[in-house]
Amino acid sequence: MFIDIQNMSFAYSNSSTNAIENFTLTVNKGEIISILGRSGSGKSTILRLIAGLEMPKGGSFTLGDKKVFDDYTFVQPEKRGIGMVFQDYALFPHMSVTDNVLFGLPKMSRNDKLKRVKEVLELVELDGYEKRYPHQLSGGQQQRVALARAIAPQPELILLDEPFSNLDTDLLVKIREDLRRILKKANATAIFVTHNQNDAHALADRIVKIKDGLIDQVGRPCDLLGSPTDEQGNIRLLPEEELSSKEPVSV
Ligand SMILES: Nc1ncnc2c1ncn2[C@@H]1O[C@H](COP(=O)(O)OP(=O)(O)O)[C@@H](O)[C@H]1O
Ligand SMILES: [Mg+2]
Repeated sequence: MFIDIQNMSFAYSNSSTNAIENFTLTVNKGEIISILGRSGSGKSTILRLIAGLEMPKGGSFTLGDKKVFDDYTFVQPEKRGIGMVFQDYALFPHMSVTDNVLFGLPKMSRNDKLKRVKEVLELVELDGYEKRYPHQLSGGQQQRVALARAIAPQPELILLDEPFSNLDTDLLVKIREDLRRILKKANATAIFVTHNQNDAHALADRIVKIKDGLIDQVGRPCDLLGSPTDEQGNIRLLPEEELSSKEPVSV
């Protein structure tokens, strides 16, 4: 088992109730997990805890053979080997595509860095766009730069927070397929959070449904209770137009 999170709980300092209650999840290497839940259910908080941007109240977290968190351990975010793609991509607007991707790379020779940038830009099919600035790219292209930047240092784990929420419906289906292909090709282990069940079903090997900071169900997309299926048992997805608004669908 590659990731082992046990009983992670957390409360924001200004709150008397736990935002996350006994979150437990194990993940295999190369697996893509989706955390699916309504707005406010605690999805971003879980990613922040995994990334080390918040300190859990209790629980433990092991990544590969590294103990990242327990009663005696707290590995700083930059030492965790975790890459993150934020909802708004958080690209540096004053830096070219190449410089955005270069930014996250660890110490190595300039040549090796440029080689790695070339590799990941090919992976996300953005070769030829090296000199562009973020404002000269479409939403989907910006998303792929953010992904290239997260993948470039070869992190142990990639976290994605609602990576599709800024995309048009037309782009969405294509990007979702691209993202799964890119992550699988890079043999990346990934956890992405979404309020959109179509995203979760299309991308994830396994889905974790959460409600009010608590795990509600875990299963393969085809196994989950409440998944809309047709008579043949195939998952019947909702029309994208119904889901393109930011309103959460029922989970
Ligand atoms: N910085 C914060 N301080 C206090 N409460 C917060 C903070 N961030 C989020 N929360 C609360 O924690 C809960 C979970 O939030 P969040 O993880 O952002 O949900 P999601 O990402 O699923 O929409 C919500 O009730 C939210 O209001
Ligand atoms: Mg969120």
